[in-house]
Amino acid sequence: MFGPDPKDSATILLDNFSLEKRTWAVAGGKGGTGKTVLTSNLGVGLAILGYKVILIDADLGGADLHLSFGMPVPKRNLNDFLSGRVESLEDVILPTPSANLSIICGGSELIGLANLPHQRKEKLKRHINNLDADFILVDLGAGTAYNTLDFFVISNEGVIVCNPEPQAKIDAYAFVKNAVYRRLLQNFGRNTILKDIILKFGNSGQRATKIRNLIEMLGNHMPEFGDKAQTLVDDFRPKLIMNKVRKKTQLEDAERFVYLVREYLSVEMEYLGHIEHDERVVDACENMRPFLLEQPNSKVSLSIYNILFNMGVTDRQLRYDRTSYKKMSKGVRLESKLWKD
Ligand SMILES: Nc1ncnc2c1ncn2[C@@H]1O[C@H](COP(=O)(O)OP(=O)(O)OP(=O)(O)O)[C@@H](O)[C@H]1O
Ligand SMILES: [Mg+2]
Repeated sequence: MFGPDPKDSATILLDNFSLEKRTWAVAGGKGGTGKTVLTSNLGVGLAILGYKVILIDADLGGADLHLSFGMPVPKRNLNDFLSGRVESLEDVILPTPSANLSIICGGSELIGLANLPHQRKEKLKRHINNLDADFILVDLGAGTAYNTLDFFVISNEGVIVCNPEPQAKIDAYAFVKNAVYRRLLQNFGRNTILKDIILKFGNSGQRATKIRNLIEMLGNHMPEFGDKAQTLVDDFRPKLIMNKVRKKTQLEDAERFVYLVREYLSVEMEYLGHIEHDERVVDACENMRPFLLEQPNSKVSLSIYNILFNMGVTDRQLRYDRTSYKKMSKGVRLESKLWKD
């Protein structure tokens, strides 16, 4: 790793951490930033820390999370539930070689699912909430389709996977911006006047518009609307991972991104850390295995442990903590042997 990653935000998160089920939605805006790779590796890491984890492939346009686990054609997938072929989301959970880790695969065979009707989305949400797991990780597709934004907005923790390249940063910024508008519209959209104010503001085309000005406008309409909008924005705390970092100078990109999001969108992002660009990640993808299991001692794996601890996760058996996260590679090595069978 090029340098230390933030510890302060992790401390804050640790204070808030409770053992109830947590849902992490992994998004990124641009395609190919590493959402699927990170979802699978964070999932494996959580399972090794002793948690019951379910991964959901919610990339309804291009599902491929199952390939990270060497499952070429999943027997059942999310579409079986979404199309009503099975009653319960539990019916499409598939095992992985780890007892702690299960997966709900995605399927891309149904055209039109990229725009789920509201009722089906609500049903899915209900079923996700009822899943028996400590952690549910949702791998989202690229872009800012409503499905993707909605998953991101309803999950209790949203993680943005960005890359240092400008295209990825612009798309990640657009994703956070769209998520803020989606959040505001979901709450104020039924009031046609407020909806109009929000949409006009969002579509005004001026580059330097700041969300705090929109909040002010809503407050001018009625002070409690301004307060409500402020709370909605304050409660939205997406997290950031900078992936495929190749140069030390690129670490500053994350800082600048967090600053821009704060300044223009009034959103406080928590930076979880970076992951270097490493050909061994590509090798692991080709082998259809999470890189954590292939290379438990590599820098990229250490970065995953670090990110998990920055997310406020503690080892269930108290073997590793954030001061000794390097020891975790030993545990992962043992676990990886089980996965070979
Ligand atoms: N840290 C890394 N170093 C090198 N290659 C990486 C790294 N992270 C991801 N990759 C590679 O980037 C490619 C895309 O990764 P992945 O499929 O996870 O992206 P994605 O964001 O899920 O894409 P999509 O938007 O299509 O769903 C893969 O080939 C993967 O091996
Ligand atoms: Mg993906």
